[in-house]
Amino acid sequence: TDGGVVYRGLAGVTFDQSQITLIDGKQGRLQYRGYSIHDLVEQTTFEETAFLLLNGQLPTTTELDQFKHQLVAAREIPATILELIQLLKDGHPTEVLRTCLSALATFDAERLDGSVTATKARSIRLIAQMPCLIAAHHAIRQGKTPIQPNPTLDHAANFLYMLQGTIPSQQAQQIVNQILILHADHSANASTFAARVVAGTRSDWYAALTAAIAAFAGPLHGGAIEQVIAMIQAIGTPERAADYVANLQANNQPVMGFGHRVYQTEDPRARHLRKAAQALSAQSDNNYYAILEAVVQAMRPYMAKGIDVNVDFYASVIYHLLGIPYDLFVPAFIVGRTVGWLAQIQEQYANNILIRPLLAYVGPIDQPYPALSQRQ
Ligand code: CMC
Repeated sequence: TDGGVVYRGLAGVTFDQSQITLIDGKQGRLQYRGYSIHDLVEQTTFEETAFLLLNGQLPTTTELDQFKHQLVAAREIPATILELIQLLKDGHPTEVLRTCLSALATFDAERLDGSVTATKARSIRLIAQMPCLIAAHHAIRQGKTPIQPNPTLDHAANFLYMLQGTIPSQQAQQIVNQILILHADHSANASTFAARVVAGTRSDWYAALTAAIAAFAGPLHGGAIEQVIAMIQAIGTPERAADYVANLQANNQPVMGFGHRVYQTEDPRARHLRKAAQALSAQSDNNYYAILEAVVQAMRPYMAKGIDVNVDFYASVIYHLLGIPYDLFVPAFIVGRTVGWLAQIQEQYANNILIRPLLAYVGPIDQPYPALSQRQ
């Protein structure tokens, strides 16, 4: 409480300072380390943006080359983790990934080492291995041997390659690069906050990332991307979108992929995702993009209230049109967000404080204690 005021859901509460990501929810502005998301998505690769988020500045050519090499060299997953995946193979990929992250802690003897060298090496390993874990699980659950990473491919292209077994088209590579950049960080969202809460107790990196994935998976946060595709399927044809939306509104249910705690306007990431979804859709006879546009039309009256499309809305169709199975949408988002979580955990440790808010107790007080035999 603050003079008796309760900030439910911590809405509007600023809990620390950060030098990582600027979000201006009124103007729809998003910047990583002071660079506009629009410049980054149009001009950088995932690796450049990852370096920027982790190190605070854009890499030089030499730094970028070295960073890319380090990422390629760190892709190998411990054999025991592959055995673990085998045991858990029928689980949801996000749950399997979360469990793998937790288990990976046991392979890092220096997991509490906060030195610059250990932090850099660990961050590179975690970023590099995330897509490998997802792809290995996807292969294993189909009874196949995991596809070995391809050292000639960068992060985005290699992820698609390990999932699908073929070198992706230039267009697919570019779109996945862009989507990973757009997903890389988003300030104090629920999963990042969870990671910071865990890091704030000086627990280790793996614990913080595991918490982040747990928070991310929920349908009001990262899990929304899977809900959007379910919504598209439930709608079926663009003509049915208006009725579907009206029905949700009548029942006070949210339209998935719409609304945001911070943005009162269109999520600035949506513009790029819409363009990519539209481009892929124009090359296929799939009607999912048309359904999304019909949902947008049906939502027009509510958009005046500031409820607009968010990052999950078009991303779902992009992943679908790239041939990624629905239950890998959340893990694919995690591949990008891992960078942001790592940068945020690093910042939390660098200026640590225990995160411990209050709850206003509103239950009964001073109750007489009844003996067990007297209770009804
Ligand atoms: N569809 C229809 N109405 C909505 C929606 C929506 N998606 N989102 C918010 N509203 C309305 C809500 O009914 C309420 O109206 P009123 O003031 O008349 O009661 C008003 O907007 C404020 O909503 P809220 O739920 O109090 O706002 P919040 O900040 O607590 O919720 C949210 C944010 C993301 C949980 C919510 O917008 C939502 O459930 N969206 C759907 C799920 C989704 O797409 N989540 C992904 C979020 S972005 C990416 C990420 O974080 O991973």
